[in-house]
Amino acid sequence: MKKKILFNAFDMNTAVHQSQGLWRHPNDRSGEYKSIKYWQNLARKLEEGMFDGLFLADVTGIYDVYGSNADAALRNAVQVPSNDPFLIVPPMADVTKHLGFGITGSLTYEPPYTFARKMSTLDHLTNGRVGWNIVTGYLNSAAKAAGATSQTGHDTRYEIAEEYMEIMYKLWEGCWEDDAVERNRETGIYVNPSKVHPVEHDGTYFRLNGIHLSEPSPQRTPVLYQAGASSKGQTFAGRHAECVFASSPTKKVLTSTVKKLRAATQEQGRSGDSIAIFGMMTLIVGGTDAQAQEKLAEYRKYASHEGALTLMSGWSGIDFSSCDPNEPVKHIKNDSMQTAIDRFTISDPNRVWTVGEVAEHIAVGGSGPLIVGSAETVANELQQWVEETASMDSILLMLLRRTPSTTS
Ligand SMILES: Cc1cc2nc3c(=O)[nH]c(=O)nc-3n(C[C@H](O)[C@H](O)[C@H](O)COP(=O)(O)O)c2cc1C
Repeated sequence: MKKKILFNAFDMNTAVHQSQGLWRHPNDRSGEYKSIKYWQNLARKLEEGMFDGLFLADVTGIYDVYGSNADAALRNAVQVPSNDPFLIVPPMADVTKHLGFGITGSLTYEPPYTFARKMSTLDHLTNGRVGWNIVTGYLNSAAKAAGATSQTGHDTRYEIAEEYMEIMYKLWEGCWEDDAVERNRETGIYVNPSKVHPVEHDGTYFRLNGIHLSEPSPQRTPVLYQAGASSKGQTFAGRHAECVFASSPTKKVLTSTVKKLRAATQEQGRSGDSIAIFGMMTLIVGGTDAQAQEKLAEYRKYASHEGALTLMSGWSGIDFSSCDPNEPVKHIKNDSMQTAIDRFTISDPNRVWTVGEVAEHIAVGGSGPLIVGSAETVANELQQWVEETASMDSILLMLLRRTPSTTS
């Protein structure tokens, strides 16, 4: 039986997303992330290319773990400067018909009541094409910027997220009946008060008593994405997610992530296949295999290992600034993104990564695999990833850098 593979493109409303240093390439136009035209051209191109969606990453805070300050992050533009991902969606929706938008929003820094309205507004404006990537953050710098001394513990963040979701479902699904908006000129009733039910919530982390401000949107609850892959993260995904975003450098690591995710979903009483798992990957395509390899060699000339390790330090909460490149990467459990370090250590104990190898791997294409070759080679390789990881069924393609074709 033929398998349908979903394709999302992967970008971020920032100058440099994951491929550190490539902004220096002569044809790169990283700075154009500030332009509506860039996003509209990208959206049009993706729709023409039959993509299912555009997935937008986002992070609150600055990558200041490397060297214990923000200098390397600023020097290399490691996901800073960055702009709000939600605001670029309406102009993209305006020039497309089918493309979906998965947007990362951290529930740690947005009160549920106002965030629910933001998502409903986008669902209205996109006519039901919006998804939310539920994240809880991983940078202490964000917690400090928000007035705390450090971020809340890893597992507690997931407990808070559970309660947050409870409120979101009440606001999106339980507040307004489908026919609450009458807009009846004869009776003079716009909204029938008997069909709107205030939400009351008195929990451990949140208390709320109010009426959701938006009328029911096409989807009410947007498509729910999730990306955390620790055991707490997988349980959360099993309960709520329709799509999960996974990033693993090898098929072996991805296969184990996918299996655990399917099992966690079944434990929550849902079919393991009810979630689409998007494996992140980066493609470098040339007329021939040799031409694609030449392109990669050229990109590597611009790659910034300092930028890559600044990114990795922020993800993992481990300062790599004083590490020898030949040192093996060690596993540490902390309150950051646990899977960031797991995937280069305990997820495959037979493969020992040095710090330098991790920097080289991440600097072109981030933490997922890099697939290089002619169109035919790349298509075959993509198919192999889908088949050999047994059940990964969707692909998230990292946009390597901004080129004239997406900006002009
Ligand atoms: C592949 C992947 C992509 C992620 N993307 C984001 C992101 O764009 N923004 C963010 O704040 N967190 C992101 N996260 C962090 C997770 O949502 C989660 O908060 C974090 O990984 C901690 O959970 P974990 O230890 O269960 O993985 C990502 C995590 C993974 C594994």
